[in-house]
Amino acid sequence: MNKRHLETLSSPGWATMLRQNLLPWVESIADLGDDVLEIGPGPGLTTDILRTRTARLTAVEIDPGLAAALAARLAGTNVTVITRSAEQLDLAESRFTGAACFGVIHHVPSPAQQDRIFSEILRVLRPGAALVGSDGYDNELTRQAHIDDVFVPLDAEALPSRLAQLGFTDIRVEHGEYDFRYAARKPPRRIPPGR
Ligand SMILES: C[S@@+](CC[C@H](N)C(=O)[O-])C[C@H]1O[C@@H](n2cnc3c(N)ncnc32)[C@H](O)[C@@H]1O
Repeated sequence: MNKRHLETLSSPGWATMLRQNLLPWVESIADLGDDVLEIGPGPGLTTDILRTRTARLTAVEIDPGLAAALAARLAGTNVTVITRSAEQLDLAESRFTGAACFGVIHHVPSPAQQDRIFSEILRVLRPGAALVGSDGYDNELTRQAHIDDVFVPLDAEALPSRLAQLGFTDIRVEHGEYDFRYAARKPPRRIPPGR
């Protein structure tokens, strides 16, 4: 992330927006349960909010500096920080009761890598568990914020069919002024007939 972007995501204004705008949306969409996965916490203002709503939070961050700072800041809390790419989570299949991925996917350099992250999230979610996420529109304002940074925007219109192809169900996309939010579930486990 470039310096200005990082400053924004560490600012009191961002914390207020998350608390007043993003959190009510998440709570209206899904109960993420007691064992939650967060992809791409960055400076961790999203982590600060998520961790008050669950017993255990696992945050996976690719940037070693950001991951180390977050691990130090939240040492001794209910948060475990893992430094790695979410393209290969190395976490148990069907473990998590919910997952969150706020503002991350446009930082992932190719659609194939982005799909690998969605597939990994799907793999580690319990059947029926929800993924909630947000991402930025492809517009001049967002492009300016990503100068000297990776910016491979998601097409919000194509996202439902993309997530469905990867195996998600119950998919929704909601449009906001500056970003869009999405939610999807891992399909519930089917009970074989006669059991
Ligand atoms: C724009 S920040 C979002 C931070 C926070 N979620 C928020 O909304 O305030 C995106 C974060 O995703 C991380 N990230 C990018 N690619 C990743 C990957 N493949 N695996 C894990 N984290 C990744 C970046 O390092 C960065 O910290």
